[in-house]
Amino acid sequence: METASDVAHPPVFDPRVPRHVAIIMDGNGRWAKQRGRPRTAGHREGVKSVRAVVEESVRRGVETLTLFAFSSENWRRPRTEVNILMELFMTALRSEARRLNENGVCLRVIGERGAFPEKLQQRIAEAEALTADNTRLNLQVAANYGGRWDIVQAVRQLALDVQAGWLDPSQIDERRLADRLSFPDLPEPDLFIRTGGEQRLSNFVLWQSAYSELYFSDVLWPDFDAAAYGQALDDYARRQRRFGLTGDQVEQTVPALVDSCVG
Ligand code: FPP
Repeated sequence: METASDVAHPPVFDPRVPRHVAIIMDGNGRWAKQRGRPRTAGHREGVKSVRAVVEESVRRGVETLTLFAFSSENWRRPRTEVNILMELFMTALRSEARRLNENGVCLRVIGERGAFPEKLQQRIAEAEALTADNTRLNLQVAANYGGRWDIVQAVRQLALDVQAGWLDPSQIDERRLADRLSFPDLPEPDLFIRTGGEQRLSNFVLWQSAYSELYFSDVLWPDFDAAAYGQALDDYARRQRRFGLTGDQVEQTVPALVDSCVG
């Protein structure tokens, strides 16, 4: 609830720090292959990078971090790899949930979780409940997630509202659709990172990344440490975001916005 002191002192955001970072963690398989190890060894090693990026996000003041852990398309991978990824999520949830909680991190899983084994769904719900009140960092893990799936499920909800007579089709606009997507309460990603050298979006946060700054790194995910992540954040700090305005307009508007926040 908004209090009088919130109104007197609205939060001031440092425009050089992305409030929300979304990451496609790519390159685990190649990392393992380079070492003559099974692909799953790359996924296991990738958990260390998840820890490093979470810690660095807290240190740098990022508010929300969204990690693409398992796409709607990843079910097509060899069965053994899918099973090991499920096992890894189970183990990570068990071993990390307490630590995340101690560090003030709020964990949320986005995606169609109904397709996961019952036990995994239960563990996800427990970890979410444990960390629900934390405010230092929102950590969203996208699992069985796809950007198109997200848009379709949002449209389906709107269609049901129309069918029920609660909503007229003429009332459907960007805001109403965005409100039905996976994280309507959080800012859209400011910075979208993909590791592993490929330069594509692969059906991740499609709607919400309309204005995201894109950053592609050749570093394979298991090697993406705090320093590599720091480079991405530093690169973001040097960019000018225009949101359709001219550079001159932005230079006049942003200081005015910061002044109005502070003042
Ligand atoms: C993509 O690399 C990576 C994945 C599909 C899985 C990512 C999972 C983790 C990092 C494990 C733990 C995550 C959490 C949140 C506990 P790839 O296999 O496509 O690599 P490749 O392109 O080199 O084959």
